[in-house]
Order: sequence, then structure tokens, then C-alpha cells
Amino acid sequence: MTLLLLGFCGLILTSSVQAQDGFDPLAYVDPLIGASNGGNVFAGASLPYGMAKAVADTDSGSNQGGFTMDGSRVTGFSLMHDSGTGGSPSLGNFALFPYTHCPDGDINRCDFPKRTRAAFGSFKNSTVSAKPGTFGITLDSGIRAEMTTTHHVSLFRFTFSTVQSDGSAAQPVVIQDLTDLANSRQDNATVSVDPESGRITGSARFLPSFGTGNFVLYFCTDFKGADILEAGIYVDSRASAEVKDLTISRSINGYPLPGGAFVRFTSGAEPILVRTATSFISAARACEHAEKEISDFDFEAVSDAATDAWREKMKPIRVSTNGVNSSLLTNFYSGIYRTMINPQNYTGENPLWSSNEPYFDSFYCIWDQFRSQIPLLTITDPTAVTQMIRSLIDTYRHVGWLPDCRMSLNKGYTQGGSNADVVLADAYVKGLEGGIDWDDGYAAVVKDAEVEPYDWCCEGRGGLDSWKSLGYIPVQDFDYKGFGTMTRSISRTLEYAYNDFCIAQIANGMGKSGDKEKYLESSGNWQNLFRADQPSVWWNGTDTGFVGFFQPRYLNKTWGFQNPLNCSNLDSFSVCSLQNTGRETFESSIWEYNFFVPHDQATLLHLLGGPANFTRRLDYLHDSRITYIGNEPSFLTVFQYHYAGRPALSALRAHSYIPSSFQPRPDGLPGNDDSGAMGSFVAFSMMGLFPNPGQDVYLITPPFFESVNITHPLTGKTARIRNVNFDPGYAAIYIQSATLDGQPYTRSWIDHSFFTEGKELVLTLGRNESLWGTRIQDLPPSLGKYEGFDETYRLGRRMGEWKYKGDFGRLRGKQGW
Ligand SMILES: *[C@@H]1O[C@H](CO)[C@@H](O)[C@H](O)[C@H]1NC(C)=O
Ligand SMILES: *[C@@H]1O[C@H](CO)[C@@H](O)[C@H](O)[C@H]1NC(C)=O
Ligand SMILES: *[C@@H]1O[C@H](CO)[C@@H](O)[C@H](O)[C@H]1NC(C)=O
Ligand SMILES: *[C@@H]1O[C@H](CO)[C@@H](O)[C@H](O)[C@H]1NC(C)=O
Ligand SMILES: *[C@@H]1O[C@H](CO)[C@@H](O)[C@H](O)[C@H]1NC(C)=O
Ligand SMILES: *[C@@H]1O[C@H](CO)[C@@H](O)[C@H](O)[C@H]1NC(C)=O
Ligand SMILES: *[C@@H]1O[C@H](CO)[C@@H](O)[C@H](O)[C@H]1NC(C)=O
Ligand SMILES: *[C@@H]1O[C@H](CO)[C@@H](O)[C@H](O)[C@H]1NC(C)=O
Ligand SMILES: *[C@@H]1O[C@H](CO)[C@@H](O)[C@H](O)[C@H]1NC(C)=O
Ligand SMILES: *[C@@H]1O[C@H](CO)[C@@H](O)[C@H](O)[C@H]1NC(C)=O
Repeated sequence: MTLLLLGFCGLILTSSVQAQDGFDPLAYVDPLIGASNGGNVFAGASLPYGMAKAVADTDSGSNQGGFTMDGSRVTGFSLMHDSGTGGSPSLGNFALFPYTHCPDGDINRCDFPKRTRAAFGSFKNSTVSAKPGTFGITLDSGIRAEMTTTHHVSLFRFTFSTVQSDGSAAQPVVIQDLTDLANSRQDNATVSVDPESGRITGSARFLPSFGTGNFVLYFCTDFKGADILEAGIYVDSRASAEVKDLTISRSINGYPLPGGAFVRFTSGAEPILVRTATSFISAARACEHAEKEISDFDFEAVSDAATDAWREKMKPIRVSTNGVNSSLLTNFYSGIYRTMINPQNYTGENPLWSSNEPYFDSFYCIWDQFRSQIPLLTITDPTAVTQMIRSLIDTYRHVGWLPDCRMSLNKGYTQGGSNADVVLADAYVKGLEGGIDWDDGYAAVVKDAEVEPYDWCCEGRGGLDSWKSLGYIPVQDFDYKGFGTMTRSISRTLEYAYNDFCIAQIANGMGKSGDKEKYLESSGNWQNLFRADQPSVWWNGTDTGFVGFFQPRYLNKTWGFQNPLNCSNLDSFSVCSLQNTGRETFESSIWEYNFFVPHDQATLLHLLGGPANFTRRLDYLHDSRITYIGNEPSFLTVFQYHYAGRPALSALRAHSYIPSSFQPRPDGLPGNDDSGAMGSFVAFSMMGLFPNPGQDVYLITPPFFESVNITHPLTGKTARIRNVNFDPGYAAIYIQSATLDGQPYTRSWIDHSFFTEGKELVLTLGRNESLWGTRIQDLPPSLGKYEGFDETYRLGRRMGEWKYKGDFGRLRGKQGW
């Protein structure tokens, strides 16, 4: 009931900022997508890039994002979270937990420890409500918990049933504990409670969820709604109002010793509002945030402001809803929404150094984010990306290196190359300015390429001596200068090569021609691991028929061996992540990494036997399910058909994954959302322009909508893509011809000026593949020279010779066409 009223009010209050025609993108945002089945999405209340993120935390084994809808129970309500990540559960510090009453009115008979109080945290999925900026849930105990947020402060509203089963009046208790989701609290956490106001303040030291080091977080909590009966602290299962201050040790027996504060109220007739703020600076700063951002505990006002902030962020992207199933609209807009949960804007909250630059955190991880998430934000929110780039460069200034992953003020683990180089190059070639110091940015990427860190677990690159002398990262390298996990020699070689290409592009723009030549040269190092005569045989002995794969190589230049199919989606035995027993490719197979040469597809095409063989290989990669769309290395492979002159197959492939592998449901994501990386894949694919990140290139496929308008937030110009012959059944997904601003357009790609200058791309669609985008001059840019795109290849295709034979029927079947 409360819930319905709330939604109704919100609608009336916010209608003024909706588009003239009443279109509201937020109607298509479902924050619960990815809240179960390993999506690990943060489903609660956050502002765009907000630091405070309020949600119910559960005791699920997959509670990295706090809340899950998998039958787990709520253990508390907290306001620091990451979204979509793997690693350990992130943050979730200083959880609140409400009780309507303690048995017999005895405070000691309420359950304090997180493990035991979970018994009071069961709930039904149907009670969960989530929309951008607010989250609500009703516990089986009868308590309704709603939450909303500002940038550093969250407001919780607990509504109690007024009468107890034993007929006694409610005396609600709210406890706040000193744990986090991962139970990583260190020694000497403190908490104090003021018996008059009920204000709780405190701090504790915690560990980051996928990195090194530790961090201290402070909090400040205030209440409103009923008179305070008493307040005190608790340790383990016992509480007392006699004691107001506590310093607590880490643990006995490995589990952080339960401890915290409680406030008990005289009545539960009115909801109890709990305002809680955190800060990395001090408890006093947390209290300042609280008083400044939520001065009057007005839940509806805070909630409406949060909703408006989201509506403003989603406004630049507007699609036509003509004929389209609304579940696709939800998929699309929810994907965009998830790209603005992480990274988080901690500007003013960085205790590590003082600077006037912005500070962003939760680059978790750049290995995931560089491919399409940050490129999407470059279109929808270039101001935010500019600030992120400035923050990355400032981190380099003060920490010494660009991060490859960063969370909770700490260094996260590097997964492959130094992919912040790609992020910087992407921003550079797309003309981001806004106070970015490109001289320092350039120095930062060059340091990645030139200086090996002593510990390359978490920054820079390893094996630089071998890289320079041999032109590849050898398996079982000899490296006495820096130390890190000596695995992933193939994927590191490929990523380092691409990172160098990205550096070369910045060098080019800055007029550093010597550097440009040098890094273009090393960007070709991937070829040193290509073994032209390497076959690929399935584990059961069946030959895939394809020859020519990357292989590990020793210091003495002889070849090692890794089955090209190992670490694929179908190999559940190999160890392929950051373990020290890991393989030579990180979280994917040689089969998939074989395509990771984003800058030189022409040379790769040639090595793989020309465009027809390249296409057959891509088909085999997808149709045999070697690739896994739930992990980021797969993203570009969906669209790489463009480089073989088959843009039609990129379109077909995109439809084979969306929506079948990305359903707008809690369990609908194929894996971790990875800070919104998966969301950005969905959004870009459906928008019809997929980036080759680090280059000023978007590969064109037909949008899933009749038209897409994207208004550039800085230039105010609207770019438009329009499908002529749009078919919502998606049988007509092949571009027959195109125009750009009214002129015929034959290239299968477009550059960023499309967005900044607000151009119009009109695509005429048909049911058959055409010759559009197939000539050499129409292919996307590549360092090497394209070969094999002669008339025989092109006409052969038209005659149906290269007609798609793979799994067309299956793809269509899956779509229900
Ligand atoms: C709802 O809850 C049950 C367990 O109570 C869980 O198994 C199920 O997956 C949940 N439904 C959704 C849509 O997540
Ligand atoms: C905790 O505090 C005690 C007493 O001040 C001190 O001896 C100890 O080193 C502290 N522990 C940590 C991890 O800071
Ligand atoms: C896109 O912009 C055009 C031109 O202003 C307008 O006519 C059209 O209605 C817009 N489409 C959508 C879906 O908003
Ligand atoms: C829209 O899509 C959903 C999910 O795929 C499906 O269940 C529903 O039947 C579709 N609705 C229509 C009208 O096609
Ligand atoms: C980040 O926070 C700072 C300080 O509050 C603010 O000035 C800036 O606009 C924020 N950036 C974004 C992209 O919201
Ligand atoms: C071997 O495995 C592959 C991939 O699963 C399969 O396509 C092939 O049919 C299998 N061969 C035999 C002889 O079972
Ligand atoms: C090269 O090194 C590998 C690994 O140590 C070794 O197995 C191989 O025999 C060596 N090859 C030559 C030609 O020395
Ligand atoms: C390669 O994968 C197969 C199939 O999962 C597995 O049996 C084999 O042990 C793996 N080989 C290595 C070296 O990990
Ligand atoms: C390319 O395909 C042709 C025809 O299928 C085959 O004969 C040739 O060996 C292939 N080349 C490579 C390098 O795989
Ligand atoms: C499309 O292809 C089908 C089957 O190859 C053919 O029968 C049909 O005539 C083609 N349509 C057009 C418009 O070319």
C-alpha cells in the first residue's frame, strides 16, 4: 500500500521533466536485471556514479553486489557497493538491521550477529520493488524497508507492524554493525552512540575485494520518527545501554567478532527514518555530508531528486518504440542504466593525496570496461568520461601508474595488458578535452610501455626485457626485474601489442613521429606468436579443420603448446584465471584470442587464409560455443565479420545473442555484469554502432529499433540512425544501402563526428545480404593492407556461394522467428 502510493506520487511530481510526448526512458529501466544467477548487479538505490548505494544485503554465495533474488535471506541494509563484479563481495559496510520488538522487551533477546539475525531476513521476491534511485523490500517479519539516496548519504525508511503477536506494543530496535559483506574487517574498529540523539558514528579498516592493501571507512547515522527509549553497544550476542563506546578486535576464530551499536525506540507507530552517510576522510565529514545532503529526512523529495538525476542522464538516448516488444526496450535502457553505477565519483573523498583533480574509483576492472562501457559513456556522458580520464591521470601522478583495476582506494589486480592505455587513446582520438592534461596522459601510457614495475600484480606490464628483445612474452620467462604471475603469455602479448598501437595513436596526434613509428612497430609483435601450421583438434580427437593459431613460445624461440580449445567455454577443467597454475590465455581460449588484433584485421585475415576462411572461423567460434558471450573478450568477435566484408553476419550474430543470452530478468545475464560492461554490450549492439575501442571507429549494424536519436550532451546536436523497411520481427536485418546526411554512404563504419556533429544515417534494410560495405575501400581501418576482396569473392557471395551455412536455422529457431 505504501508502495503504491509512493509510485503514484513520484509519477505526478516528475511528469514535468518528461519529454513533451510523455516518453519516459525510466519506465524501461529495471534495476533487478542481473540480481541473481551470477549477474552480481547492484540492484538498489544509487545516483549516477554515486558513492552511496543503498540496498538489502543477503547471505547468498553470490552477493558481490549486495542484494540477490535467489532464495537467500537479508542480513542487513548498507550503503556502499560495487556492481556486477567477480572477486570477493565488495563493501557492504556498517549494515543496519531492524527489529520490531525484542522478545519480552529484553534487548539481549534480539539477534545481533549477522549469521543468526539472517533468520529474521527472509522475504518473498514479490515484495521487492526497484526503480532508479529507490529500492524497497518487505521482510517476512513484517517490516517494510525502503531506501533512497543522495551522492554520499542514504535514507532508509523502516515501517513496522504496530502490534506484536503477543499483543504488546512495538519498541523497534535498529542495530548498526561493524562488518562488511566479505567479513574483511581488521583490528580496532570503533563505534559510539549518543543516547540523546541516537547518532551513531564509527569507523573500521577493511580489505578491497579484488586487490591489495586496505582502507578505512567512517560513518555517521541519525534517526527520526519516534522517541528514543535507550541506546548502547553490543558485542557478539550481548548488548547494553550502559555502554556507549566500543573498540573491537578483528576476531576470535576467524570470523570478525560481531559488534556495533543499537538504538531502541518507544514506538513503532510511525516509520523510523535512518539517515546514514559514509566518508573515507572522517566521521565528522560523513556527518557533514548527511546534514548537507539530506537535511530534513524527506524520503519522497530525496527519491524524486534521485529519479530526476537518472532521467536527466538517460535523456540523450531516445529510440522509437514503434512495433518493438517492450522487453527489448527494457533490455536496452536497463543496459545503459547499468553503465552509470560504476565507476564511482569519490571526488573530495580521497584521503590518499590532495589535488584539485576529480577522483573516480571502482574501475572494476578496466579490462572489462575498456571494450564498450567507457566508449558508451563517451557518447552519452562525455563530461563524466573526461573526469574519469583526469582521475586516471591524477592516479598515475600520485601512485606512479595508471590502474588496470581499482576499487576502494586500492590497486586491483591486472588481468592482461595495461588497458588504461586503450581508455586514454579512445578518449584522445574522440577529441575529449575538458582540462585533460594530455602531456601527463602520454607520459603515463609511455611508462606502461617502458618501465617494468617491481610488482606487476597491479600495474604496468611484466616481462618488458623479453618483450623488447624477443618481441613477445615468453612462456616461463626469465624476469629478475619485476614480479607477477608468470602466466597468460599469449594474451599478455596480444594486449601489450594493442596497448602499444593505442600509444602510437596518441603519439601521432601529439606529433611525436619517432614514438609513433616505434610503437606501431611493437604493435606488430602479436605476429611473433602466430604459428601458421598449428592445427586445432577437439579433445575427442575430431579435427576442427582450421590451421594457424597463436601458440606459447619459449625464451629460446621454440614453440610450446596449448590446445587452442582450452580455456574455452567448453573446457571446464583448465585453470584460466589469475591462479599461478593458470594457462597462457586469460579467461578465454586461443581460438577466441586469435581474433584479438583490433588494429590489424587485414593482416590477420591474410594469415587466417583470407576473408572467406576468416568468416568460417568466426562462425565456428560462435556456433560451436567456443566463445562465451558472458565474458568480455567475446564482444568484438560478434562484429568482426565487418572486417571480412560481411557486415550482414555481424547483424545476424548480434541478434543471435540478444535477447537470447541477455534477458531482462533477474537471472537474465550470462554472467557478471562487470560494472556495466555487459550492459554496454547490449546497449551498443541494439543501437547499431559497435566501437572498436581505442580507435575512432564504430561498426554499423541496423539498430533493433526503427530509429535512434542520440543528443550529444556538449554540442547539443542530435545524431540519428533510421531504418527504412524496419521489421520488428528482425527478418529484414541486412543493410541494402545507406545514406549519411542524404549522401550515399558505402562504408561499413563511421567515426565519432557522427555524434558530436549530429549527423543522420539512414539504413535501407532487406531480407537478403547485399553488397553494401563489402569493397576494400568500405572496410573499417586496419594497419595492414586488405587482400582477397576481389570480384570473385564479392560476386561469389552474391551468387549465394558464401551463403551463411553455419547455424542459421538454429539462430532463427532461438529467436522464435
Ligand atoms: C524468488 O525466490 C526463490 C526462492 O525463494 C528463488 O529460488 C527464485 O529464483 C526467485 N525468483 C527470481 C525471479 O529471482
Ligand atoms: C589496535 O590498537 C592497539 C592499542 O592502541 C594497538 O596496539 C594495535 O597495534 C592496533 N592494531 C592495529 C591493527 O592497528
Ligand atoms: C528523432 O529526431 C527527429 C528529428 O528531430 C524527430 O523527428 C524524431 O521524432 C525523433 N525520434 C525519436 C524516437 O525521438
Ligand atoms: C515480448 O517478449 C517477451 C520476452 O521475450 C515475450 O515473453 C512476449 O511474449 C513478447 N510479447 C509480444 C507481444 O511479442
Ligand atoms: C563528481 O563529483 C564532483 C564533486 O562533487 C562534482 O563536481 C562532479 O560534477 C561530479 N562528476 C560527475 C560526472 O557527476
Ligand atoms: C568431438 O567433439 C566435437 C565438439 O564437441 C563434436 O563436434 C564432434 O562431433 C565430436 N566428435 C566425435 C567423434 O564424437
Ligand atoms: C627451448 O626451451 C624449451 C623449454 O625450456 C626446451 O624444452 C627446448 O628443448 C628448448 N629448445 C632448444 C632448441 O633448445
Ligand atoms: C584442456 O582441456 C581439456 C578438456 O577440458 C582437459 O581435459 C585438459 O586437461 C586440458 N589441458 C590442460 C593442459 O589444461
Ligand atoms: C582457406 O580455405 C580453403 C578452402 O576451404 C582451404 O583450402 C585453405 O587451406 C584455407 N586456408 C587456410 C590458411 O586455412
Ligand atoms: C532473397 O533470397 C532468397 C533466397 O536466396 C530468394 O529466393 C529471393 O528472391 C531473394 N530476394 C531478393 C529481394 O533478392
